[in-house]
Amino acid sequence: MKPPRKLHIKSYGCQMNVYDAQRMVDTLSGEGFVETASADDADLVILNTCHIREKASEKVYSELGRLRAAKEDAARSGREMRIAVAGCVAQAEGEEIIRRAPVVDVVVGPQSYHHLPDLLRRAETGARAIETEFPAEDKFAFLPQPRPDAIRARGISAFVTVQEGCDKFCTFCVVPYTRGAEVSRPVAKIVDDVKRLADNGVREITLIGQNVNAYHGEGTDGRSWPLGKLLHRIAEIPGVARLRYSTSHPNDVEESLIAAHRDLPALMPFVHLPVQSGSDRILAAMNRKHTVRDYRKVIDRFRAARQDIAFSSDFIVGFPGETREDFSATLALATQIGYAAAYSFKYSPRPGTPAAEMRETVSAADMDERLERLQGLIDSQQSAFNKAAIGNTVDVLFERAARNPGQIVGRTAYLQPAHVMASADIIGQVLPVRIDSLERYSLLGELAPSAHPTPAESSQTTTGA
Ligand code: 5AD
Ligand code: SF4
Repeated sequence: MKPPRKLHIKSYGCQMNVYDAQRMVDTLSGEGFVETASADDADLVILNTCHIREKASEKVYSELGRLRAAKEDAARSGREMRIAVAGCVAQAEGEEIIRRAPVVDVVVGPQSYHHLPDLLRRAETGARAIETEFPAEDKFAFLPQPRPDAIRARGISAFVTVQEGCDKFCTFCVVPYTRGAEVSRPVAKIVDDVKRLADNGVREITLIGQNVNAYHGEGTDGRSWPLGKLLHRIAEIPGVARLRYSTSHPNDVEESLIAAHRDLPALMPFVHLPVQSGSDRILAAMNRKHTVRDYRKVIDRFRAARQDIAFSSDFIVGFPGETREDFSATLALATQIGYAAAYSFKYSPRPGTPAAEMRETVSAADMDERLERLQGLIDSQQSAFNKAAIGNTVDVLFERAARNPGQIVGRTAYLQPAHVMASADIIGQVLPVRIDSLERYSLLGELAPSAHPTPAESSQTTTGA
């Protein structure tokens, strides 16, 4: 028997890249590859790249520089190392990668990675293989299911892609170009995937998509189902204790999603709802197609359905034309909403997007200052939110042993890490924890005294926080 070949995947960027990387591992395990933690001893290195901001894109070329040395070392010791670039930079800059980086053997876009085995075979003949088309066939129909041992090794929380691509065309964003038009997977396929995960120990499912609440996949009745209806169906699957979804657009929050938050205890009351800016003028220039008022109304609808709901967001500072007043409006909106967490980014012009042509750029110094102020505000909101947990008893889904010996770490409904001293058999269970203190972003507590269900009971738990 041939010894297994070693595969190292490095993923950048969003949750979907994490998910795609796992599916690449599943695909290549059928070709005799096993994962290795280091690039140096790998027979195949895949960089699963992100194109969302310039900084993310640049990382690819610097990593390829390092890999060139590793590839030469391997060749000197009589071993062949192949290098593939996957993900959104591959999609956007495929030809350029081939030109700029002779070290690369394979370039494969996000909709074509089910062809990796074929592309590798082509590369083994000495040719360089590139595939960045949006193939007519659906990659999900070709991707092998993960093996039970792979699912178990990945832990108790899993992502499932339900929707891919985006038709919104925000003027700053590359996603509609790199991930393509919006496509939703059929309900039955998603249910099969979730059942398989739940049967193999997964307790938390996060449905992912670039614009996940634009989901409109074919339902089991042949009709198009919205995300809320899909969530209702998935909540019925035995073993699923917690459900989440990400990332949502404010304009696609329809009633079944609000109803899902009202009806489903397993659906976590924590919603990532990017707003990008608090200025109507900038929102219009971004082609977000909603106003600040619209956004606040959406937040109110969620809050009316579930009082303990909390929000996170994405913000861009320094979008072309953003004045001090526009930025103040962003601070004001964040203050009004009160976020549990948020990401903020400096605007980064992306080639091929409409905003990259806009002339009224904001100076680097202003961008730095605005980013710092917004991040300061968000940090203080996040600390206040975390501090508010102290003294409360909250449900925690335990995930793994922590670095500190004897400690087990899990997450609250709001994705706050929570540590307790306990035995490892609580991993996979949702248990109430009395929160005693906060250390940076982590909550520390003790299992609440009544919280020791037998394993048989706990495996039936279908409720979250
Ligand atoms: N510059 C800065 N941030 C961006 N994002 C998307 N495109 C850009 C860009 N060109 C941010 C948005 C989005 C998040 C994933 O990344 O805030 O919600
Ligand atoms: Fe990009 Fe999100 Fe806008 Fe789609 S909705 S274009 S993914 S920012």
